[in-house]
Amino acid sequence: MLLHLDSSANRSDESVTRRLTRLFADRWRSDHDSTEYRYRDLAADPVPPIDTAYCQLGRRSEREGVVPLELVGALVENAAEADAWALTEPLITEVLASSTILIGAPLYNFSLPAALKAWIDRITFPGVLALGDTEVVVITSRGGAYGPGTRREGWDYEVPYLRAYFTNYGVRDDNIRFITAELSLAGLVPRLAHLRPLAEQSLADAISSIATGQHATAER
Ligand SMILES: Cc1cc2nc3c(=O)[nH]c(=O)nc-3n(C[C@H](O)[C@H](O)[C@H](O)COP(=O)(O)O)c2cc1C
Repeated sequence: MLLHLDSSANRSDESVTRRLTRLFADRWRSDHDSTEYRYRDLAADPVPPIDTAYCQLGRRSEREGVVPLELVGALVENAAEADAWALTEPLITEVLASSTILIGAPLYNFSLPAALKAWIDRITFPGVLALGDTEVVVITSRGGAYGPGTRREGWDYEVPYLRAYFTNYGVRDDNIRFITAELSLAGLVPRLAHLRPLAEQSLADAISSIATGQHATAER
């Protein structure tokens, strides 16, 4: 199953990540026999931030050692925890059922959108996330440039974070790919106009790596 997530707050056709994830998903669906496809718009339908009940249920589960997903419900002690688990369990089940997770993730303030972080915090219930053979494809876009030699080299805390996160939960290094379209603000901001050719090239590279299936190019 392909699980397709978008997290750009911009739900219009201007969104670069939404356009690129749609391209990837269309291609994936035409290449695979599997008709199984789930879409989540984390901006339109936000995952609620975790709360006290989530933390207390998680702490109870940790105290017991590793409690399998199907037994966590038996640890619930009150209505708030039941609500927390009712929000959490289907999201985790969905992730565990996915062979590929596709994430549209614009760079926001050098990091990931809060909507995506809320999803991550919720699915990361203690002891239940094992992503073994899952493939992860992250499509990012950012207004500026962060490559070697740029002024902001090393300031991108999104790609390294997502790589560490998914690796920690078992995704193999060769199963996590990043496709990046940089300098998206060059077309908008007058003082960045001289960078437009680079921006166009970066977008064209992202589109072609999706079209050819060579996602490994940009940032492995
Ligand atoms: C709240 C917010 C914060 C942003 N922070 C950054 C940033 O730190 N660095 C950067 O290069 N671009 C930043 N941008 C620009 C976006 O990363 C860029 O426009 C990207 O293409 C947005 O993806 P989208 O078109 O899919 O919404 C920010 C945009 C927004 C709305």
